[in-house]
Amino acid sequence: MSDRKVIAVVGARGAQGGGLSRAILADPDGGFAVRALTRYPDKEEAQALAAAGAEVVQADLDDQASLERAFAGAHGAYCLTNFWEHFSAEKEIEQAHKQAAAAKAAGLQHVIWSTLEDTRDYIPVDDDRMPTLQERFKVPHFDAKQEAHAAFTDAGVPTTFLHTAFYWENFIYFGAGPQRDSDGNLALTFPMGEAKLPGIAAEDIGKAAYAIFRGGSRFIGESVFISGENLSGTEFAAAFTEALGEEVVYNDVDPDVYRSFGFPGADEMGNMFQFKRDFESHYAGARVRSEALELVPELQDFETWLAANKGRIPLG
Ligand SMILES: NC(=O)c1ccc[n+]([C@@H]2O[C@H](COP(=O)([O-])OP(=O)(O)OC[C@H]3O[C@@H](n4cnc5c(N)ncnc54)[C@H](OP(=O)(O)O)[C@@H]3O)[C@@H](O)[C@H]2O)c1
Repeated sequence: MSDRKVIAVVGARGAQGGGLSRAILADPDGGFAVRALTRYPDKEEAQALAAAGAEVVQADLDDQASLERAFAGAHGAYCLTNFWEHFSAEKEIEQAHKQAAAAKAAGLQHVIWSTLEDTRDYIPVDDDRMPTLQERFKVPHFDAKQEAHAAFTDAGVPTTFLHTAFYWENFIYFGAGPQRDSDGNLALTFPMGEAKLPGIAAEDIGKAAYAIFRGGSRFIGESVFISGENLSGTEFAAAFTEALGEEVVYNDVDPDVYRSFGFPGADEMGNMFQFKRDFESHYAGARVRSEALELVPELQDFETWLAANKGRIPLG
C-alpha cells in the first residue's frame, strides 16, 4: 500500500468519483490507491468503498483546511463540484478555488478537474438568444467549471481538464427519460432539434479518469473530452423503442418551452440544451467516441448501457 500513488477522490460517494474509486480498486496491481473524500464517512457508499480497500477521509469542499488534510501526502486528486446541490455557479467557483489551493499546499503531482465548456465563449452574456442566469452566466454549471480553470492554472497545479458529457443515468435519476403524455404514449422531450447529444455511462467517466492518472505527465495541462456515443433525439427514441418494446417518440420542443417547464433548473437545462443544439459542431464535435475508447477500451455505447439499465428507468 505504502508505495502506491494515492489519489484523493472528491465526490467518491457520487457518480464520477465513485466510478474512479471503483476503477482504481478493481486494479490492485495498478500502482494506485484510493483516498475517498466525503462529508459522510458513515454512509453506505463510503462504507462499501472502505470494505473494498479505500481509505475514507472526511472533507468538505467549503472547508479548505479539511481539503488540505485530505490531500496531504497524496500523489493526485480528482476534483469536482456538485452544482445540483446548491444551484450556485459562484459557489462552484469558490469550491474549485479551495480545491486548487489545497492541491497546491499538498504539492500534488496530478489533479483532474472535472469540467465543461464556458458557453459564454460562444454566446456572450449580452446576446439575447437565451436568458442570462445568475447575473453573468448563460449555462451557470458549465460556465463556472471552465471559469474555475484559472484557479488551478494560476496556482501552478499540474492539471488535466476532463470535459465530461451528459450521463445516460439522467434518464433514471434526473427525470430526463421517456414520460407518458395524456394519451399514455411515451415521449422523450428535449429542445435539441436533430442535433447530436453526446452522452456517457457515468461509470465510464471514472474509468477515463483512471486512465488519465495512469497516463500521468502526457495529460498534464491537456484538455480531454469524452463521450460514449453522440445520438440525436430521434436516435435516442429509436433505441428506447427497441429496448422497451413500446414506441417512444422524440418530442422536440423550443428551448423557450423547455425553460418554462418550471422544474428546478429548467431555465438552466433549457439554456444547456440550446447551447448543445446551436453549437453542435463545437460541443459534439469535440467529443469523439474513438478518442474516449483509447482511454476506456470497454467504453459502453448507449445500446449496451440501455440493455443493462432499462428496468431502472421510471416511465412516468
Ligand atoms: N448529470 C450529468 O449529466 C452531468 C454531466 C456532466 C457533468 N455533471 C456534473 O457533475 C457534477 C456532480 O458530480 P456527480 O454526478 O459525480 O455527483 P453526485 O453523484 O451527484 O454526488 C455528489 C458528490 O459531490 C460530493 N459533494 C458535494 N458537495 C460537497 C461538499 N460540500 N463537500 C464534499 N463533497 C461534496 C458529494 O460528497 P458527499 O455527499 O459524500 O459529501 C457526492 O460524492 C455536477 O457539478 C454536474 O454539473 C453532471
